[in-house]
Amino acid sequence: MANSSLLLYCLGHRRFSPSFRSFFFIPTCLALFTSLIIIFYISTTSILFSGHLHPSTVRLKPHLSSGSSSNTQENIPLPLHNDSKTPLVLFPRISPLEKNDDGGYKSQRSSKLQSVFNGIYVNDEVFHDRDIFLEDYKQMNRSFKIYVYPHRRDDPFANALLPVDFEPGGNYASESYFKKILMKSHFITKDPTKADLFFLPFSIARLRHDPRIGVGGIQDFIRDYIFNISHKYPYWNRTGGADHFYVACHSIGRSAMEKAEDVKFNAIQVVCSSSYFLSGHIAHKDASLPQVWPRQEDPPNLTSSKRKKLAFFAGSINSPVRERLLQVWRNDSEISVHFGRLTTPYADKLLGSKFCLHVKGFEVNTARIADSLYYGCVPVIIANHYDLPFTDVLNWKSFSVVVATLDIPLLKKILKAISSNKYRMLQNNVLKVRKHFQWHVPPVDYDAFYMVIYELWLRRSSVRVS
Ligand SMILES: *[C@@H]1O[C@H](CO)[C@@H](O)[C@H](O)[C@H]1NC(C)=O
Ligand SMILES: *[C@@H]1O[C@H](CO)[C@@H](O)[C@H](O)[C@H]1NC(C)=O
Ligand SMILES: *[C@@H]1O[C@H](CO)[C@@H](O)[C@H](O)[C@H]1NC(C)=O
Ligand SMILES: *[C@@H]1O[C@H](CO)[C@@H](O)[C@H](O)[C@H]1NC(C)=O
Ligand SMILES: *[C@@H]1O[C@H](CO)[C@@H](O)[C@H](O)[C@H]1NC(C)=O
Ligand SMILES: *[C@@H]1O[C@H](CO)[C@@H](O)[C@H](O)[C@H]1NC(C)=O
Repeated sequence: MANSSLLLYCLGHRRFSPSFRSFFFIPTCLALFTSLIIIFYISTTSILFSGHLHPSTVRLKPHLSSGSSSNTQENIPLPLHNDSKTPLVLFPRISPLEKNDDGGYKSQRSSKLQSVFNGIYVNDEVFHDRDIFLEDYKQMNRSFKIYVYPHRRDDPFANALLPVDFEPGGNYASESYFKKILMKSHFITKDPTKADLFFLPFSIARLRHDPRIGVGGIQDFIRDYIFNISHKYPYWNRTGGADHFYVACHSIGRSAMEKAEDVKFNAIQVVCSSSYFLSGHIAHKDASLPQVWPRQEDPPNLTSSKRKKLAFFAGSINSPVRERLLQVWRNDSEISVHFGRLTTPYADKLLGSKFCLHVKGFEVNTARIADSLYYGCVPVIIANHYDLPFTDVLNWKSFSVVVATLDIPLLKKILKAISSNKYRMLQNNVLKVRKHFQWHVPPVDYDAFYMVIYELWLRRSSVRVS
């Protein structure tokens, strides 16, 4: 090979004195040789040199554990040194791409799944893969079992450990809804040996308001709770808590685990404040709980309303991101940015705008995403690092617009660049995903409860240490 003969030439050349050769010539030759190898390696593996993008679909594999019969697809890892210059991703075997006569690319399985946009595949469907989701969901519905640590009605902390006996309300309702619905569902098993996962039933929201505990006492309470169950039952110690989970919507839940590190690092944390940026949140292990302001029936003019404004936001200024939004867009006639109390009904604002802004406040999460979906408004997410709810199942690009904080000055340009066809697609999909962001007692298939259960099912462990 040219490279190696060059090296031999360098080493073998005897015109220079031996000391000169070792101090100057050999290192230079080695550096040259190394550079050539690096360039050769890059040219064979990178798409930089290929001139055009190769079409590819990247699918999220919705099933995290292996060895289950529900795996209907097989992933094929591509070899590292392959001249075909394809990006290194796992390609599902079920969707080989074929070039059709009409020049479009279609997946063999369902042609409507993908469309081509500037040579890049765009998935317009609300699911990354609907068929796999539906099939896996059915299996979950049949076989998933959860064991809940039992507590008696006369337990001094029954208020925080048992489900609430009223209809949950307010900003953190998701937490109470989940437990209330779970306890009556067919996923519950009284037999721990049959359980896939174990539920730690403490309620962060209720502990926070309990005068015996309060914000300052939550960490000690959680530490004691884990101490108690790990001494009374054998299940925690088997996995160090890896097959346990808790659910919390208030952001205080995150620091609540500071004195119980096993919960933070091993257990599945289903939380509203799910940010990739925070060390307490471990993406893929933990799951995002949607923050939902509970509402009962559909708004009357969901589809008929005329959306005259381009975008709308209302809220308090409690973060630099919101300050920036106010600074740039406060006087705009098309983007309505409102801080403080609204004089017109909130619902009319959401029904009267094409896009509704979800802007990071103290935390990445607020109820605004669920609000906008409920009112058929396309959400615009301005909250960097938000691990969005159900993101390993739902294709957020098909029903929302994600804008980086830095791009706030470009907001109007970005939203106006969305064609009316694209907008129609986004809004149609908003109407399709609404149901995943609503709670019902008793639950309704594919609602927020079932979706959270599905996220847990994806995270169940296939390894049982006994
Ligand atoms: C690269 O992979 C493709 C598809 O798997 C295969 O057809 C081709 O022969 C491979 N090329 C090399 C150089 O291994
Ligand atoms: C899931 O299970 C519930 C309760 O058995 C049942 O009512 C529902 O129809 C099931 N859904 C699906 C999609 O299998
Ligand atoms: C732990 O167990 C002790 C003794 O049964 C009990 O007094 C205490 O309230 C329990 N603490 C928690 C947080 O469950
Ligand atoms: C679990 O582990 C802890 C600490 O190692 C130990 O004190 C406790 O007895 C164990 N629990 C059971 C049920 O064996
Ligand atoms: C918006 O209007 C207010 C007063 O009406 C003015 O003080 C402010 O400078 C304007 N801001 C922008 C960004 O134009
Ligand atoms: C929606 O309908 C309600 C009652 O029918 C009405 O009060 C409200 O103004 C309507 N809002 C919009 C945006 O059309």
